[in-house]
Amino acid sequence: MPETAEALDPDEVTSVEDEKFDRIYPAQIRELSSVFWTPVAIAAEAAKLLVTTPGTHVLDIGCGPGKFCLVAASLTEGRFTGIEQRGDLVAAAAAAAAELSLSGVQFLHANVMEIAFADYDAFYLFNPFEENIFGGHKIDSSVPLSPELFKRYSSHVATELAARPVGTRVVTYMGYADEIPACYSCESALFRDDLKLWVKNREPDLALEHLTLSATRSYRGSIGWSSPRNSA
Ligand SMILES: C[S@@+](CC[C@H](N)C(=O)[O-])C[C@H]1O[C@@H](n2cnc3c(N)ncnc32)[C@H](O)[C@@H]1O
Repeated sequence: MPETAEALDPDEVTSVEDEKFDRIYPAQIRELSSVFWTPVAIAAEAAKLLVTTPGTHVLDIGCGPGKFCLVAASLTEGRFTGIEQRGDLVAAAAAAAAELSLSGVQFLHANVMEIAFADYDAFYLFNPFEENIFGGHKIDSSVPLSPELFKRYSSHVATELAARPVGTRVVTYMGYADEIPACYSCESALFRDDLKLWVKNREPDLALEHLTLSATRSYRGSIGWSSPRNSA
């Protein structure tokens, strides 16, 4: 495991470590890893940013086959819950947790719209909703995808995060961070800005949130992805 994020070339974060880790998954899920699942080195750094005290309960919004939660639970004293809309990925995540004999981690088959955010202390998002705006770049065709759903999910998460207490930590990997409301500020950016720590630093100002200002945010897509705003 690398000791610091800076020790890695950010364009080569998917490594031998990932090849080894991904063997836990069936081939079909393993093949999606370099684009859709968090690399081990990123998950390790994200977990350190999110777990500030033993028992911190982290929600991975759109956990896929659970790679972030599994790596994070093996390295920290946090508790991790992954929620995922695709049942086959939830089953793969649960099977991997059992094989690794990991405690402190659970996976729920659910849509983000059904989740009680108040049950969690901190949140992790790796571009969960972007399939909705990248028509030709998707995991499979088993769930509805549309630009309208992108807006609905992102705005729901932003509303829920705005209601969490001051001090709440959110880590995003890739993307524009459309789900992060203006009452959060970016406290740390690693791996050439792909990995960001956001902390809620004030109660939301409804007039300001309504403007949805995000001029300072930058986008980096994962391997092979281009900016959705350029391709829109
Ligand atoms: C880019 S993958 C990230 C997986 C995992 N968080 C990781 O970092 O390895 C995004 C996942 O979010 C899931 N997802 C997208 N929209 C969702 C929703 N509305 N509710 C639950 N899961 C969702 C997708 O099915 C996909 O597995």
